[in-house]
Amino acid sequence: MCSRNIKISVVLFLVLIPIFAALPHNHNLSKRSNFFDLECKGIFNKTMFFRLDRICEDCYQLFRETSIHRLCKKDCFDSKWFGECLKVLLIPEEEISNLQHFLRVVNGSPISFNMGPQT
Ligand SMILES: *[C@@H]1O[C@H](CO)[C@@H](O)[C@H](O)[C@H]1NC(C)=O
Ligand SMILES: *[C@@H]1O[C@H](CO)[C@@H](O)[C@H](O)[C@H]1NC(C)=O
Repeated sequence: MCSRNIKISVVLFLVLIPIFAALPHNHNLSKRSNFFDLECKGIFNKTMFFRLDRICEDCYQLFRETSIHRLCKKDCFDSKWFGECLKVLLIPEEEISNLQHFLRVVNGSPISFNMGPQT
């Protein structure tokens, strides 16, 4: 009985190790992106900026993939990745048009992420 418990523990241990090892080691997202790092050329509106930033944050939480985080913010949120994140996060249509407006203000250049009729 006792040795059976030990076996179970060992098995659990062996299963858990790879899971923990697979988690990102770098939880250091304190380096919150800022307006200038992202080379945003529009107007800095904190509300708008953090809403956009939040999308990438949530997207990262979903995949636990640091490159997603980086790609999402690339070119001041103006990348297809940002659009992909909106899709996977199931952001509703009205919110997307809000975000497109935010992006236009913050980014300052015509946006290219394509969120037109669902592709
Ligand atoms: C987290 O990032 C900040 C800013 O880039 C850096 O100063 C700090 O040393 C980092 N902390 C860890 C634990 O890596
Ligand atoms: C920033 O954007 C929000 C939301 O659109 C708006 O209510 C607010 O007045 C703006 N602030 C500035 C300083 O432009």
